[in-house]
Amino acid sequence: MSAPDYRALLDAALSFKRRYPLHTEGALRNRTIYFLFYNPSLRTRSSFLSGLARLGGNAIVLDPHNGIYTPALPDAEIPYSTERISDVARVLSSYGDGIAIRMYGAPAGWVYGAAHRHLEAFAESSRAAVINMECDRFHPCQALADMMTLRERLGELAGRRLCISWAYSGSWHKPVAVPQSLLLAAVKSGMDVTLAHPAPFALDPEVMEAARQFAHRAGAQLRVTEDLRDGVAGAHAVYAKSWCSLDHLPQRCGEPVDETAMRDVFERHRDWCIDANLMRLAAPQAGYLHCLPADRAQEVSDSVIEGPSSWVFQQAENRLHAQNAVMTHLLNPGALS
Ligand code: CP
Repeated sequence: MSAPDYRALLDAALSFKRRYPLHTEGALRNRTIYFLFYNPSLRTRSSFLSGLARLGGNAIVLDPHNGIYTPALPDAEIPYSTERISDVARVLSSYGDGIAIRMYGAPAGWVYGAAHRHLEAFAESSRAAVINMECDRFHPCQALADMMTLRERLGELAGRRLCISWAYSGSWHKPVAVPQSLLLAAVKSGMDVTLAHPAPFALDPEVMEAARQFAHRAGAQLRVTEDLRDGVAGAHAVYAKSWCSLDHLPQRCGEPVDETAMRDVFERHRDWCIDANLMRLAAPQAGYLHCLPADRAQEVSDSVIEGPSSWVFQQAENRLHAQNAVMTHLLNPGALS
């Protein structure tokens, strides 16, 4: 989305939240959305289904691995076990109004971008809206909730400083979708962003280039550092979470992840944990954000995530409001204003 369109959606989401639930009832009456989760989810699943029910719509949850033929791209078809995505999209969009999909990592063979291509294939053949509930490149609904939280806490965002940081986890399996979507949304909104990560955790170069262009147009600064303390210093908000190293994912489907190398780069950076001492380097009243689920004592200390600087539960609640706004924007835009 362009920066003005994104700002309009963010404003509409904040306004829709203020009117929820009494003055938003019926916004999605008689609208049906199909939900396909290839990966686990607590927040995304629960907030989408709760929000859609409260707005009067119908949710149909389809398990891609059990009960339907697994939607597949042509190069991964198995007779009477999978079904071509273009056929699934055409059929579902003739019944309902939206198809929402979560897919990243193992279901797409860990080849970076392959899950995103599955979502694009749905969108190419669907007459109904297709919603990204997190793929391997982007998590746009999370980013909208993040930006709502930042606006509620910080007010006008232009010129405010956001640190987006990699953090250690005992698992290497978290995708880069959250930092990439957040980075794009933040620079579009004029925030000065410092991206902090050890060298092996660089984000997608295409996303970085897009972020630089949005930052330039918005008059915002974008800086990358390999020093966590440098990244946190002076920030108004610190968003620190783990993500995998794109360097150690396979290039082609069927090839293995280089798990030894992946674990090695993680273990070399165990000290990338946000604790109270680090938060003291940030600006006074700075907040800590995380999309959850968080790995306690690895990505973040209990004292930070449970403490007064934690904004994470407001952020989690905003998933509901962000997605209500997205669904309404797509399926009944008149009800959003
Ligand atoms: N943040 C997020 O997407 O949470 P879930 O994985 O629980 O949906």
